[in-house]
Amino acid sequence: MKTILVTGACGQLGNEMQLQARLHPEYLWLFTDVVPAPVPAASASSPSPAPGSSPSPAPGSSPSPASGSSPSPASGSVDGGSSAVSSSAVSSLDITDSAAVLSFVEEHSVDLIVNCAAYTAVDRAESDADRAALLNATAPGYLAAAIQGRGGQLVQISTDYVFDGTAHTPYTEDLPTCPNSVYGRTKLAGEQAVLAANPSALIIRTAWLYSRFGNNFVKTMLRLGREKTELGVIFDQIGTPTYARDLAAAIMAAITQGVQPGVYHFSNEGVCSWYDFTKAIHRLAGITTCHVRPLHTTEYPTPAARPHYSVLDKTKIKQTYHLEIPYWEDSLRDCLQELL
Ligand SMILES: NC(=O)c1ccc[n+]([C@@H]2O[C@H](COP(=O)([O-])OP(=O)(O)OC[C@H]3O[C@@H](n4cnc5c(N)ncnc54)[C@H](OP(=O)(O)O)[C@@H]3O)[C@@H](O)[C@H]2O)c1
Repeated sequence: MKTILVTGACGQLGNEMQLQARLHPEYLWLFTDVVPAPVPAASASSPSPAPGSSPSPAPGSSPSPASGSSPSPASGSVDGGSSAVSSSAVSSLDITDSAAVLSFVEEHSVDLIVNCAAYTAVDRAESDADRAALLNATAPGYLAAAIQGRGGQLVQISTDYVFDGTAHTPYTEDLPTCPNSVYGRTKLAGEQAVLAANPSALIIRTAWLYSRFGNNFVKTMLRLGREKTELGVIFDQIGTPTYARDLAAAIMAAITQGVQPGVYHFSNEGVCSWYDFTKAIHRLAGITTCHVRPLHTTEYPTPAARPHYSVLDKTKIKQTYHLEIPYWEDSLRDCLQELL
């Protein structure tokens, strides 16, 4: 039986991977995060983790494309992350501890790692560059080296922020990168560190991630929509939201079909601005009492620069793994059904 380690298992994507694991008992699953775990690692491999709650909601990672109502509109959470799949099935592993990573991977005979851990606080990274680099660049290199030693593979998650956003058509994987933030630079360095240590790694760049778990833009806009009568949201940054459940399903498709090395792009289908995204969130949630105004990026300065256009071309991943990716608004509706 193949053993799969999911790091950062208490985050948005990590929790969605825990849900995928329930559907795939043919693998031995190990879930870890930086939080201390109440159970020893040896018993953390249940394919069917029981529902529970996470003591550690993920840090606010979404861009902050809204203003006028809250000093930090992207940091709120409807449920504070309390809807995590299970904390008791998650054991402790700090991926910045190279010795701990190596001994965990060896001790548990890990065959494949899905790295969902990252420094995702995009604005905070601007003043915390060393920590962001340690987590986003150095640590993925440790994971890649550890799994390379066992002849295994790593699935590393990266970001649309490796691009500067000056394109006008969707970004393919072969286009030059040019990150314009600390977060983007450290994630790109992570891609490079991973491929250097484990050339058979799969790197998936994604964008605008949300889920019912952790903190994200959708939850923040739900909260602000209920609290405020007016809200300004940026309309001149264009991308595509990604439901972490759809990304987790794509990762699972890669695992079951056989991980093909290389860089791939994944988001939901379609295109929108943060303004359009907010309007859809409010419309689907039945929020009618908040007027959403379009803002220019210049009207809402943030510490980290964001790409103005970061739509990802998903042709490669769709063809490789025979994926049919849902339209972003359909997936948003699915997520809201769980959140509301
Ligand atoms: N969120 C987005 O909009 C977005 C967009 C594009 C790409 N991505 C990428 O997608 C991936 C998943 O993102 P996400 O939103 O699911 O992230 P997330 O919710 O922030 O989860 C990251 C998890 O990693 C944990 N972690 C932090 N430091 C760690 C360490 N030293 N060792 C082990 N675990 C540690 C975090 O714990 P704490 O909460 O306790 O720190 C958290 O549980 C990341 O690679 C991210 O860069 C995200």
